[in-house]
Amino acid sequence: MGAIYNLSGRFAIVTGGAGGLGLGIARALLDAGAGVELWDANAAGLAEAATELGASIRTVDITDRSAVDRATAAAFSAHGRIDILINNAGVLGEVKPIWETSPEDFQRVLQVNLFGAYLVTRAVVGRMRQQASRPSRVTPHPLRGHVVNIASIQGKEGMASAVAYSASKAGLIALTKSVAKETARDGIIVTAITPAAAETAMAREISAERRADILGRIPMARFVEVEEVARMVLWLSSDECSFSTGGIFDLSGGRATY
Ligand SMILES: NC(=O)c1ccc[n+]([C@@H]2O[C@H](COP(=O)([O-])OP(=O)(O)OC[C@H]3O[C@@H](n4cnc5c(N)ncnc54)[C@H](O)[C@@H]3O)[C@@H](O)[C@H]2O)c1
Repeated sequence: MGAIYNLSGRFAIVTGGAGGLGLGIARALLDAGAGVELWDANAAGLAEAATELGASIRTVDITDRSAVDRATAAAFSAHGRIDILINNAGVLGEVKPIWETSPEDFQRVLQVNLFGAYLVTRAVVGRMRQQASRPSRVTPHPLRGHVVNIASIQGKEGMASAVAYSASKAGLIALTKSVAKETARDGIIVTAITPAAAETAMAREISAERRADILGRIPMARFVEVEEVARMVLWLSSDECSFSTGGIFDLSGGRATY
């Protein structure tokens, strides 16, 4: 992918960076000149990603408050500042109607997708607010950072057999809008994207029948490419995105009509 945005001198954290979308987003940020630290609970996957991308890595379970606080402190002290946070780590959970689901699975999905994103945002934005704003190459309004949350079309529309996942992503959308209001005067732009399905490990967890059902809901009749997700995240992480805080950006091949 050719670099359209110049993110040189910026430093980014990508959670879930050992996985499909996270890896693609990290690659795009690196191509644009940013420094990137990948956070993931999967240490083996992280090591592979580091070899592939040349990014720095940190093994972090985002549901562990003290691990998140320690990793945040270490990242700020290693790089001086964090300009970009991509809250991407997530799990799908059981694909079953609510009456067949286990409460433990519901809690686990909420724990990673919502509580984990909350912990990371809490820690990183708390420090981002205190770092100096930097003059921008494209806007006269100084910025301190960008936060991009990877939600899902299922958080906007709901989805049968994905109650926990959809609820967690709806929660992440509300978290995005709320934090955006809190940091609007600090020069921290907070947004979320709501992609339709991409062919990552997560999509491979579902049955052929459900896959066909999901595809049938997308007017463009195809899955989103990882690079298409990465390109939108790149814009949302750049100074070109300077007045859209709290925005929830659609990426669903026409599935969402709002
Ligand atoms: N693939 C899709 O169809 C799709 C569509 C819309 C949104 N999303 C969202 O995009 C994000 C990335 O999904 P993906 O498809 O690349 O999935 P993936 O399973 O390939 O990657 C997710 C990564 O998150 C990591 N992770 C899970 N729990 C963690 C924890 N507690 N702490 C740290 N890391 C943890 C995993 O180890 C993995 O590397 C997720 O938030 C997902 O909900 C995916």
